[in-house]
Amino acid sequence: MSNKPLTAKTNDKGHFEVGGCDTVELAKQFGTPLYVVDELTLRHNCRQYVSTLKSKYPNSLVLYASKALCNTAVLKMVCDEGLGLDVSSGGELYTAKKANLDLSKVYFHGNNKPLKELEEGVAAGVNIVADNLCELKNLDQISKRLKMTARVMFRINPGIEAHTHEFIQTGKIDSKFGIQKDKIIEAAKIVSGSRYLTFIGLHTHIGSQIFDIDPFVSEADVLFDYAKQIKDATGLEAKELDFGGGWGVSYIDEKPAPVPQLLEKVIQRVRAKAAELKIPEPKIIFEPGRSIISPAGITLYTIGSVKEIPGIRKYAMIDGGMSDNPRPILYDAQYDALIANKISVETCHGKSLQKYRIAGRFCESGDILIKEIKLPKIDENDILAVMCTGAYGYSMASNYNRVCRPPMVVVNNGKSTLILKRETYEDLVSQDVIL
Ligand SMILES: Cc1ncc(COP(=O)(O)O)c(C=O)c1O
Repeated sequence: MSNKPLTAKTNDKGHFEVGGCDTVELAKQFGTPLYVVDELTLRHNCRQYVSTLKSKYPNSLVLYASKALCNTAVLKMVCDEGLGLDVSSGGELYTAKKANLDLSKVYFHGNNKPLKELEEGVAAGVNIVADNLCELKNLDQISKRLKMTARVMFRINPGIEAHTHEFIQTGKIDSKFGIQKDKIIEAAKIVSGSRYLTFIGLHTHIGSQIFDIDPFVSEADVLFDYAKQIKDATGLEAKELDFGGGWGVSYIDEKPAPVPQLLEKVIQRVRAKAAELKIPEPKIIFEPGRSIISPAGITLYTIGSVKEIPGIRKYAMIDGGMSDNPRPILYDAQYDALIANKISVETCHGKSLQKYRIAGRFCESGDILIKEIKLPKIDENDILAVMCTGAYGYSMASNYNRVCRPPMVVVNNGKSTLILKRETYEDLVSQDVIL
């Protein structure tokens, strides 16, 4: 797996091309910074999950973790490929509604969903992934008031430590997420004693950017174990087991195993566990975010000044940074990049590459997008294309320094379509109460 979109190539002008579009032209047409999504890569990544499961374990569902990148156009494309959605806020749910998606395939997560949002979820008829007892009690009250039944899944904490960055690890025992082991029967009793709640199954999520298949296989053991405890204590059956998301992608040169390999190993264990416990095979659910959208996305920036501090380093400054992609400043995330208008230099004249630090434009010395990268000599107005930025860039973007967030285009077959407008100064002040 490369860190570039599947359609990436060098065109006859020596420019970087994605989805049949010259990225230098895209930068000219839409301005920079610019988020670019390659439709073919996005759809291919969805199909990797959907087609493997369809052929090997049809009683299954893939949910796109919309937190990775959420807007109506992307959600539509993903759902068009047969996926459902994981949402974790009223805002993500609202976006799904606006996109006219099938809400019965939406699962609502969150460790502390505000009551108003929980009510919106129940009213919309989505599946609720309950994270604690307090939420279950509120859910019962809300459903009673709305005279509706809520389909409920429990998020459990499997205590599995995946080898990934600590800040994005969520499956450890010491985690804010999930119902603790010693509370799970109490949770099941709340549901079995309610006329308004229907128990559908169990959910786990053990972290993100994981390359090891074993923790996912172990999840099956833990999920079946909890399911058995709940069945024995209350008679409730976990008909759905949700393995969460977290499969890794290649930002630099990481080599994740192909998605079908991950799915096949998990399926094997699910079948073995169901046979061992003599219970019907459950529906299985996967919730990928990053592995669907990240490799489909690149971000384009224009270089401004280039500054050399003799004996120390060269800085190349871009017109974006931590507000459009906070991952490097948040958790030291690394990226690969190229100069979109100098691809032939890059690939043919490796020796002429120089070391640069790519710095953002924001008022934080930590606003460094790439600490060190070898690139051809950088000049003012060059276009920097950063790879694998589809996930958790736009979705975590801010207006720090009151900078407008960038637009997004989808590219396919030589055609570019604007799916998100660039924010304007007027947008920035639109919520200000001007005294
Ligand atoms: C509950 C849940 N599901 C799915 C995901 C998606 O993870 P990833 O984007 O790493 O696939 C996350 C990410 O934090 C999550 O919290």
